[in-house]
Amino acid sequence: MGDNVILVGFMGAGKSSVGRLLARRLGRCFVETDDMITAHEGRSIPEIFAQRGEAHFRALEEETVRLLALKSGDVIATGGGLPCRDGRPEALRALGTMVWLRGDFDAVYERAQRAGARPMLAGRGRDEIEALYRAREPYYRQADLTVDTTSINADQVVSKLLLALRDRSPSTLSPLGRGPQGKPPPEARRADQRIPSVSEEGK
Ligand code: S3P
Repeated sequence: MGDNVILVGFMGAGKSSVGRLLARRLGRCFVETDDMITAHEGRSIPEIFAQRGEAHFRALEEETVRLLALKSGDVIATGGGLPCRDGRPEALRALGTMVWLRGDFDAVYERAQRAGARPMLAGRGRDEIEALYRAREPYYRQADLTVDTTSINADQVVSKLLLALRDRSPSTLSPLGRGPQGKPPPEARRADQRIPSVSEEGK
């Protein structure tokens, strides 16, 4: 099994803010699958959906999962739909510890509406989005760990997650990652010099 931490969950679950904070705490690199896709395509996620359609975006996600096999020791935030294909949870678990950031639908829905342009929400009513959420739950549920995020902020989620990760696999969580000869990689040293405060959350 790989030694990455892979965050999954519905849109609005807090994968980006929690992932960024967790990576800083651990001195790890932070990777977002949506960023890998936009960098590869040279256009935004809404543009990809509008110009090439959802099927093309899902094919890009498939390719992204293959590329993730090259990652080691990273914190990886996945797009909300990425784990939701047969065989995907298994593929993600092979990369490291798969963590579901779970939230009650109402809380997640409210957060998802608030932030960012999300093509999967556009033109869909609340009931339709709840149906999508319910259809995805069985995939998310296959994560190694589940952290409930309802009514707590990203900083509190990270604290819970660190405890759960330490209980489950203490050796994968060396605070500075694994540089050559035990030295942390440069980005880990930089990240470790500064522990973010709660007020920085969401930056
Ligand atoms: C999607 C979620 C988005 C992004 C794309 C599709 C989905 O990521 O990958 O718009 O199908 O749920 P976030 O979960 O970060 O919003």
